[in-house]
Amino acid sequence: MSAVIEFKDINKHYDDSDFSIDNFNLDVEEGDIVTIIGTSGCGKTTVLKMINGLIEPSSGEIFINGSPISNADVVELRRGIGYAIQGTLLFPHLTIRDNIAYVPNLINESNEKIESDVLKWINIVGLDESLLERYPHELSGGQQQRVGIARALAASPKILLMDEPFSAVDEITRNQLQKELKQIHEKTGITILFVTHDIGEALYLGDKVLVMKDGAIEQYDTPRNVLRHPKTEFVDKLLERTKIIDQK
Ligand SMILES: Nc1ncnc2c1ncn2[C@@H]1O[C@H](COP(=O)(O)OP(=O)(O)O)[C@@H](O)[C@H]1O
Ligand SMILES: [Mg+2]
Repeated sequence: MSAVIEFKDINKHYDDSDFSIDNFNLDVEEGDIVTIIGTSGCGKTTVLKMINGLIEPSSGEIFINGSPISNADVVELRRGIGYAIQGTLLFPHLTIRDNIAYVPNLINESNEKIESDVLKWINIVGLDESLLERYPHELSGGQQQRVGIARALAASPKILLMDEPFSAVDEITRNQLQKELKQIHEKTGITILFVTHDIGEALYLGDKVLVMKDGAIEQYDTPRNVLRHPKTEFVDKLLERTKIIDQK
C-alpha cells in the first residue's frame, strides 16, 4: 500500500481568524474512501481544499503520488482531482450532457469517446439517458447531485474530493446515493475523500474515518476501530447517537 496523498507538517492560519491547523500529518492510501467528520468549523473543508490548491497551506507540504503540489501546475493538478460539493453547482446554461462532458470537451477528447463516456457515467450514477438533453433546473435536487458526481467522474480523476455532497437531499435519496458511491468506488478504485457531518454516513462509507476537532486529528482509523476503540472523549460523544440508534 502506498500513500497517494500525504500531508507533511502542514500548518494553516487565516489572517482574520483564531482557527489554525498545526503540524497536521496524514497519509491517505491509494483506493481508500476516507470520510472526514467533525464539528462545524473544525477545518474539514480547509483540509480538502488544500489538496486541489484552492487553499494554500501556511507552511508544510502536501504530496500527491510522492510529488509536492507546491511545484505542480494548478490547472494540471485540478484536472486530476474531481471535486463535488453540496448543491453541485452545475452550469445552468448547459444541458446535462454538456455538463457531464465539460472536462472531456476542455481537453479535446474525441466526440466518440465523449459520447460513450457521457453514457457510461449517466448510467453509473443511476440516471436515465433521457435526461441528457434537459437543463439542470429541470431535474430534482437528487438528480442534480448525481449529475454533479457524473461530471466529476467524467474527468477520469484518480482522486475525488467530496464536500458534504449529499447533505441537501432527502434521506431516502441520500441512502441511495451512498450505495451508488460505494459501487462507483468498487468499479473505479479511485481514492475518495468525503466530508460529512453525519457519523452514520462516515462509518458506512469510509474505509477509514478521520475525526477532526479544532483543526487537529482526534482519530484516524477504520470504522470498526472507531466504533470499538474511540480514542478520545470527543469521538465517544460523536458515536453516542449511533449507539442510541443501535439500541432501538
Ligand atoms: N478565508 C477564510 N478566512 C478566515 N477564516 C476562514 C476562512 N475560511 C475558513 N475560515 C475559518 O476556518 C475555520 C475552518 O473552516 P472550514 O475548514 O471551512 O471548516 P469546516 O469545513 O470543518 O466547517 C472556521 O473557523 C472558518 O471560519
Ligand atoms: Mg465545510
